[in-house]
Amino acid sequence: MTDRNITVLNTTAFEPVTTQTWTNGRHAVRCVKVIQETWDVKTFCFMAEQPIMFFFKPGQFVTLELTIENETVFRSYTISSSPSVPYSFSITVKRVPGGRVSNWLHDNMSERMELAVHGPVGQFNCIDFPSDKVLFLSGGVGITPMMSMARWYFDTNADVDMVFVHSARTPQDIIFRRDIENMVARIANFKLSLICERYESGQFWGGFSGFLNLAMLQMIAPDFLQREIFCCGPTPYMQAIKTLLQNVDFDMSRYHEESFGSTPEVIKEQVVQGAEEAAELAEAISASELLSVNFASTGKSVKVAPGETVHAAAAKAGLHIPKACGMGICGTCKVKCLDGEIEMNHNGGITDEDVEEGYILSCCSTPKGNIIVEF
Ligand SMILES: Cc1cc2nc3c(=O)[nH]c(=O)nc-3n(C[C@H](O)[C@H](O)[C@H](O)COP(=O)(O)OP(=O)(O)OC[C@H]3O[C@@H](n4cnc5c(N)ncnc54)[C@H](O)[C@@H]3O)c2cc1C
Ligand code: FES
Repeated sequence: MTDRNITVLNTTAFEPVTTQTWTNGRHAVRCVKVIQETWDVKTFCFMAEQPIMFFFKPGQFVTLELTIENETVFRSYTISSSPSVPYSFSITVKRVPGGRVSNWLHDNMSERMELAVHGPVGQFNCIDFPSDKVLFLSGGVGITPMMSMARWYFDTNADVDMVFVHSARTPQDIIFRRDIENMVARIANFKLSLICERYESGQFWGGFSGFLNLAMLQMIAPDFLQREIFCCGPTPYMQAIKTLLQNVDFDMSRYHEESFGSTPEVIKEQVVQGAEEAAELAEAISASELLSVNFASTGKSVKVAPGETVHAAAAKAGLHIPKACGMGICGTCKVKCLDGEIEMNHNGGITDEDVEEGYILSCCSTPKGNIIVEF
């Protein structure tokens, strides 16, 4: 009796009429599974209450909206699952020492918990840069977008030749090892190479050791110059890869990278907000050089030094504009500039239409004169 009822419920739940497709926006989702991937990495799987087909471009990310200690915080996480399995989506999170959200997720996020996510968005994806030969280069948790792309190509039987080169600290830090090896074992056009920075005595390691270099790359993928390259990992890793490729005259229009952000930006802003620094800054800059930022909705206003972001100005005025990536990728910090000129150095987190309507990303926009912002 119960079984029959459940069957009926599930069938109706997934009828096309009741199933929506995912579009960029704010969505309420529920955690349905937590998987321990490595000692400091977990995957969290989410579904929507009302069935949604989670279609997105493999490589894109979502921004989580969480309430931690009565404060709303935002953080972006790449979708590690593939849109070929569309009734749920996953993110894979590594604990960052001292990090607020990553540790909170590891310690608190469990099955049945609800939260809001924004997205999906992101220009780093394999749909917008189609190719029949790809090279995935990832370091650490930077594997997440590559995993989504690889799963997509695998599940859709794409005629794409994949070489996946992943670097980890030690063998026990390799994320998704079994998942990738399973795919590699089943199709001919998928090759995997793992590189470990080091391994402890007693650990068996048959792969490459050290850091990825040109000799290794030539051995792993002799035709790498003909491949579309997707790269994601820690900043020094990506810088080293870029230099390596530039030195061999790789066509950099075929090189795509995603940065998960650097800690210094977060710290820099917090430090600038500190009273001591602010006082020093004000002393060093004459009053005539300071620019005024007016926040129209709240009636607050503040003076800032040239080069300070609109987001930092808001913080000085005691206003909290939501922010996640801090690099002009995610769009969380979007506000409207009602008057005055700004310089915006974004990384794809805003559309041309939004820019035409006067919207700016406050985390990466600096005033060029006095401005008025709608906030
Ligand atoms: C597009 C995008 C995709 C991403 N995808 C992923 C993904 O797939 N998986 C993943 O794990 N991460 C991903 N990230 C990174 C993620 O968004 C978070 O930045 C990461 O989880 C750290 O957040 P946190 O809140 O734990 O750390 P935070 O609290 O932001 O802290 C980060 C670091 O700064 C230090 N810190 C903070 N404030 C101070 C201070 N005042 N003084 C000194 N030190 C300080 C902390 O100790 C910590 O080491 C992605 C980021 C972006 C932009
Ligand atoms: S916080 Fe992500 S674009 Fe500004």
